Amino acid sequence: MKIIRVKDYNEMSKTTAKLFFDKIKERPSIHLGLATGGTPVGMYEKLTEMLRSSTVSTGSLKVFNLDEYADLPQNDSNSYYSFMKKHVYNPWGLKEDQCFIPDGTAENLQEECRRYEALLDENGVDIQLLGAGANGHIGFNEPGTPFDSETHVEKLKSTTREANARFFPSLEEVPTHAVTMGISSILKAKEIVLIASGEAKAEAINSLVNSSMTEEWPITALQQHPDVTVIVDETAAASI
Ligand code: PGA
Repeated sequence: MKIIRVKDYNEMSKTTAKLFFDKIKERPSIHLGLATGGTPVGMYEKLTEMLRSSTVSTGSLKVFNLDEYADLPQNDSNSYYSFMKKHVYNPWGLKEDQCFIPDGTAENLQEECRRYEALLDENGVDIQLLGAGANGHIGFNEPGTPFDSETHVEKLKSTTREANARFFPSLEEVPTHAVTMGISSILKAKEIVLIASGEAKAEAINSLVNSSMTEEWPITALQQHPDVTVIVDETAAASI
């Protein structure tokens, strides 16, 4: 595991954007696994600027999302589809057949999970971006999720719903479930980049670096992957 320590959120965003920019430049038909949440917003802004001021084409890459809320319409401003449209799909000029995200409103969610996992297997993810929950979740794989889990429906912990309530009008409106790539789905990516900023993430980063692997800290599953880069700012790295 390679650990890159940077000063602050801005540096984390820039360093990560440059890493992804170089990958896209090297291989324009790359398959990116992407994350949502507060952490990657700055990275997407910087990467969009880098792409716009270059001749690198986004016309043949594909983007696969980690997760989506269950039972939230795609056009709801808080769906992860809306997030991706705002921060990635539109700014990069992606076409529909380049963008893949679980459908959290599918009538049969179990079938949707199987469809998404098969899609991931068929395409393969070259590089997966991850944020981390304060409780060590990756994607929406909450503590206790088996390491061999594939794409599935996850019941969100109350701490996760509380953390995400800042995006919603009230806590009650935060969905209770999500469709998420499982831990084994995430580990299938050829390369993984995890980013974290702020003291709320320090304990999770500490468990990743210093604990033994345990399903109580889903983030520790990354220890078994051969190509992981962790880009952390000073406060998130405070305990390592
Ligand atoms: P955040 O969420 O980037 O909004 O802190 C990260 C996560 O829960 O994975």
